[in-house]
Amino acid sequence: MTSVKFADNRDAASPAALLLFVGDGGQLSAGAQALETAGSGQLGRAMKAANFTGKKGKLLELLAPAGSQASRVLLAGLGDAAKADARTFEDLGGEAAARLQTLEAELVADFTGIGDLGVGADVAAAHFAHGAELRSWRLDTYRTRLKEEQKPKLKTITLVGAPKSTAAIADRLQKVAEGVAFAKELITEPGNVIYPQSFVDRVKAKVEPLGIQVTVLDEKDLAKLGAGSMLGVGQGSVKPPRLLAMEWNGTGNPEATPLALVGKGVTFDTGGISIKPAAGMEDMKWDMGGAGAVAGTMVALAGRKAKARVVGICGLVENMPDGNAQRPGDIVTSMSGQTVEVLNTDAEGRLVLNDCLTWTQRTYKPKVIVDFATLTGAIIISLAHYYAGVFSNSDALWGKLDAAGKKVNDLVWRQPLSEPGGHYDQLIDSTIADMKNLGTREGGSITAAQFLQRYIDEGVEWAHIDIAGAVWRPKGAPLHDKGATGFGVRLIDQLVSDNFEG
Ligand code: BES
Ligand code: MN
Ligand code: ZN
Repeated sequence: MTSVKFADNRDAASPAALLLFVGDGGQLSAGAQALETAGSGQLGRAMKAANFTGKKGKLLELLAPAGSQASRVLLAGLGDAAKADARTFEDLGGEAAARLQTLEAELVADFTGIGDLGVGADVAAAHFAHGAELRSWRLDTYRTRLKEEQKPKLKTITLVGAPKSTAAIADRLQKVAEGVAFAKELITEPGNVIYPQSFVDRVKAKVEPLGIQVTVLDEKDLAKLGAGSMLGVGQGSVKPPRLLAMEWNGTGNPEATPLALVGKGVTFDTGGISIKPAAGMEDMKWDMGGAGAVAGTMVALAGRKAKARVVGICGLVENMPDGNAQRPGDIVTSMSGQTVEVLNTDAEGRLVLNDCLTWTQRTYKPKVIVDFATLTGAIIISLAHYYAGVFSNSDALWGKLDAAGKKVNDLVWRQPLSEPGGHYDQLIDSTIADMKNLGTREGGSITAAQFLQRYIDEGVEWAHIDIAGAVWRPKGAPLHDKGATGFGVRLIDQLVSDNFEG
């Protein structure tokens, strides 16, 4: 974690890297202009030589002009400064951190006289630091031979000339970043380290000190509850399943109706007896990404003491082939009493989520449920890695998710869903049981969602978010390196902030 510091003025003797903002057409901010004057026009000459015109999101790295002690200068393009928003600054913070991570201990960003922006200077500065913080996350636990020049060094982001009100905004964002980092950590850890019980242990250690109440159901509890669907998925593994429930209540009212978050936590998905091909199977360590997003969101909400009651439920199972594993064609009885013909043991996520959804509704009586799951490869075919797919029985809930996603750039795109009995729903009717866990190859993400919908009680607003693509990305972006994105944490934090507090 980086730390954020504040200063009224730039320390001319500081050897830290210095970042200055430039608007369209090479318009220097006041802080940049001061250096330009002191350095007799060297910034302007360098910008011209590099064809740098202050376009939004662009960075130009320079040797510091004569007279400055800075180790280097980064010019950061705002584009049309009057339109620069939180996202603009977040992305610049992220890009700057990525560039300096192994080079510099401190980055000083100068907001002096930044002028009129599309947001307040406090929001701009806080989000700049937030972007840097988010982008700085990495997992080095297993790299025992890092060379000095490969080690991360960036520790401090100093915001110069930012309004006093920046600190409170930055503090809150810091809590959210902690949630994102925790999700990325859980998702990036390999399957031999994170399995159902170790997921529980790591999450407990993290969330209990934040005031979150934790309940854990083991395989015996689940058997008593009749969770035959979830237990069927886990029966081929030597690592027994767990249901982890976290509760944060910042309302002061123990009876407040909670928002429920439910996450698919398949800690490793081999496919089971319907085994997956070897190539790329290592990616299935991410198959607990839904549970990771839920745990990370709880950390963010409790960390910033959100004034809402939110419960987070993770269905934790390892899907393995084994002499005791479930077979294609097996019929299981879910906690709801509905029976499922398991035609493909690799369509296991829905078999975990259905029992978790039933338990969540019985235990907490929520009016709104959002589930996160790396449920289908088909959603990656539809949306690639940019958007997550949303399936919802509620136009209102969809609208809220869409709006929240746009604010924090955790983007969602709505997908179709039939009413119960409608054409997509019929595709999962079974000839021998209440339903089968497999639809057609076509529309594979939709039939998965239809399956889940059969477990949602009348009157409950529900959205299923298929994050198979969004949970990890093969390429880096301003706020994350290639790999885990932490998708969902900022989305739900924003959703809660906009709709479930106060
Ligand atoms: N965990 C996978 C989905 C997945 C695939 C996530 C690729 C991330 C990347 C899920 O359990 C699965 O195997 N789904 C099958 C369903 C099929 C058998 C109906 C799929 O998508 O192929
Ligand atoms: Mn699978
Ligand atoms: Zn899976």
